Amino acid sequence: MKYFHYRENHLYCEETLVQELAEEFGTPIYIYSKNQLLENYRAINNALAGVDHVTCYALKANSNHELLKLLVAEGSGADAVSAGEIYLALRAGFDPQKITFAGVGKRDDEIEFALKKNIYSFNVESMQELEVINQIAGRMKRRARVALRINPDIDAATHPYISTGLKSNKFGIDIAVAPQSFAYAASLPNIIMDGIHTHIGSQILKIEPFVQTATTVANLVKELRANGVNIHHIDFGGGFGVQYKNAVTHPLLPVEQTTEADEAPSLETFISSVLPILKETGCRLFFEPGRSIVANTGILVSKVLYRKDNGVKKFVIIDGAMTDLLRPSLYQAYHQIVPLTLNEKEKEIVDVVGPVCESGDFLAKERTVQNVQRGEYLAALTAGAYGMVLTSHYNARPKIAEVLVNGEKVRVIRERETIEELK
Ligand code: LLP
Repeated sequence: MKYFHYRENHLYCEETLVQELAEEFGTPIYIYSKNQLLENYRAINNALAGVDHVTCYALKANSNHELLKLLVAEGSGADAVSAGEIYLALRAGFDPQKITFAGVGKRDDEIEFALKKNIYSFNVESMQELEVINQIAGRMKRRARVALRINPDIDAATHPYISTGLKSNKFGIDIAVAPQSFAYAASLPNIIMDGIHTHIGSQILKIEPFVQTATTVANLVKELRANGVNIHHIDFGGGFGVQYKNAVTHPLLPVEQTTEADEAPSLETFISSVLPILKETGCRLFFEPGRSIVANTGILVSKVLYRKDNGVKKFVIIDGAMTDLLRPSLYQAYHQIVPLTLNEKEKEIVDVVGPVCESGDFLAKERTVQNVQRGEYLAALTAGAYGMVLTSHYNARPKIAEVLVNGEKVRVIRERETIEELK
């Protein structure tokens, strides 16, 4: 996350002092770097240069309107998982013909909405869903372009909650019955059987599962063509993992212990490892990256409220909570925690916890952090993906503000909710 860096021991986002933003707009607050976002998107797009492709940003990672507009201006497509996300994508200006619609549980009204809005493709997850889409499209006198999502039964070696390509997961159509499923889809009158979709999980740090999946998909394209079902597009999903540990380094920051499993290959490496295999098919290629575009563009800044030492444990109690960044509580996810101002003070091992009435409310456990006192600030790094979108009103906590930084320029892209606005 090169756009977040220390200058004279103060954390900056691009050319802007983060502490000034915290003081001006209050905490907890999400702060995003515009240039990091653009750089990430372009890294993916450049790696696909010369190939007929669409990069469909997965809105679920972060659907802030202003961030979406930046991606629209770059020519990005959108991957949506609900009518709500299709609506947000269209409102931000995404071309409907670059919108794909995934999800195991599409409601009838969502299918109708997507057809009405003329999106590019449904990524279909079951045969029953396929039949429902066929019926609804028939009723609306339309034909729905679909890709069948196959479940390749490949272990993505990620957290079980975000692994999606195993037989034991609810996603996709079993690879074993793929040939019959595609043939059946091709026979339905209101279906344009066009593509193969796959998405094996999120925060994947190994290349091998992607290569295996690409090979499986490429072989399936061949097999289907031999059986008279032509496939024109492959949607390879998202899932490229990012680096959470040592995201920002400085001689005054503790070096976080890592194993090989924490190191994220570059976006170029991920893509170049599967591209030759997928390109061979001659299909138009779709990718649906979410995290790899937004994770390192954002941080969550919180203020230290209190300290507590019960003799066994030290707690740093901040104003940010699981309601603002759920990932540590839900997936035991690791976010580097850094002070906005570095100094030579002793480091200590603490739990960084929020005000919510749950012991599961923490941003970090047993973490070595510089000693910080009431009124000082801490930032949770790499929080741009699955941060704001997973916030909640639990404990009647208003939704927090989001700010976008471009060099020295700063713009509030979501106002902080007030308690009067709570419903
Ligand atoms: N396409 C499909 C069909 C997906 O289900 C997902 C993510 C993506 C694309 C984007 O994957 P990405 O490139 O972001 O890995 N809340 C979890 C992550 C859930 C991912 C769900 N699906 C977290 O905070 O780690």
